[in-house]
Amino acid sequence: MEDCTVDIKKVVAALDLSRYSERTFQHAYTLARSLGAELILLNVINTRYLDSFHMVGGEGFGVDPQEIIERTRQERRAALEEQFLAKAQGVAARVELRQGLPWEQIIKLVREENADLLVVGAKGRGDAAGVLFGSVAEKVQRHSPCAVLSVRGPEHCRLP
Ligand SMILES: Nc1ncnc2c1ncn2[C@@H]1O[C@H](COP(=O)(O)OP(=O)(O)OP(=O)(O)O)[C@@H](O)[C@H]1O
Ligand SMILES: [Mg+2]
Repeated sequence: MEDCTVDIKKVVAALDLSRYSERTFQHAYTLARSLGAELILLNVINTRYLDSFHMVGGEGFGVDPQEIIERTRQERRAALEEQFLAKAQGVAARVELRQGLPWEQIIKLVREENADLLVVGAKGRGDAAGVLFGSVAEKVQRHSPCAVLSVRGPEHCRLP
């Protein structure tokens, strides 16, 4: 067998601020803390969401798309800081916001950062019944250069 060293020094948690995100964060944080790894908390503002604002602006509803995007970035950053970063004690953690297609941006960041582990929810905001993996979860599994940990929903929480 080829000798392959596993040294997990950087963990990325993809957080879409859905009901899956808390457990996704908990797994990423627990691993990062016990491994002494860095932790990046990533949210992607979906292009589809941005396009809808451009359309509204373009149609003359008096909405400045740039302003809404800026406000969305601020709101997302505040949410990630409050809900997750504040709980990442003892770990070198930071928030990253990107814009575009979620799966592409997640993979891009993992590559840029040379991350060793990507942690995602099995599903997210869509949370369709009967579906095992959401489309982003599936695409990142397919394209990630590093290992991917897929975290199940809160209903799979083990009680103390
Ligand atoms: N915009 C995003 N920013 C950061 N992470 C995301 C984003 N979208 C999805 N993810 C990550 O992927 C996981 C799975 O979400 P996914 O979007 O695949 O499921 P879904 O919303 O139920 O399905 P779909 O989007 O196909 O309707 C999320 O829990 C999160 O870890
Ligand atoms: Mg989704």
